[in-house]
Amino acid sequence: MPQDDEGMKRIWIATLLTAVSLTACMNLTVLKDEPVDFVSDVKPLLESRCLECHQQSYEFAGLNLETKALAMKGGRSGPVIVPGSPHQSLLYKVLLLGHNNPVAMPPTPERLEREHQQVLHDWIQQGAKWPDGVRLVPPQDWKKSRS
Ligand code: HEC
Repeated sequence: MPQDDEGMKRIWIATLLTAVSLTACMNLTVLKDEPVDFVSDVKPLLESRCLECHQQSYEFAGLNLETKALAMKGGRSGPVIVPGSPHQSLLYKVLLLGHNNPVAMPPTPERLEREHQQVLHDWIQQGAKWPDGVRLVPPQDWKKSRS
């Protein structure tokens, strides 16, 4: 029957479209779930963009990100990293704030690039792993630590 053919065609098209969009979603998920490595991905990012002001000598908002213990302790508002929940983590949320917000980080006109925001997002989402003994070096001390 011609009408049934038409119906079959529609079902086929619908199935195909679903398959295509499912594949697209899966690709996105795979990209997002790429494991983040603290030492090669997160450490240089925090050091170059955040450590200038969040370390022993300039502990703005009481937040020192030099060691795992200090970073997990957080700042004046309490913990800033909630492993597994970037959207509950102040360390990530401040990156998304608009520039007119005084707590937008970094407070300089150069905001973090989208891909760098994503690195911190994925790092927290994946449990905020920070290998024992790895210490971040503030830019002020880069020369000293290299010599
Ligand atoms: C130029 C200095 C500077 C840099 C660079 C900087 N911060 Fe800050 N940060 C501040 C200051 C100042 C405050 C307090 C802001 C306020 O409340 O007025 C602050 C506050 C914060 C807070 C809130 C802490 C709390 O407990 O309330 C977080 C989280 C934070 N910064 C994360 C970051 C991150 C992540 C980066 C890097 C992407 C960064 N900051 C880079 C100066 C800086």
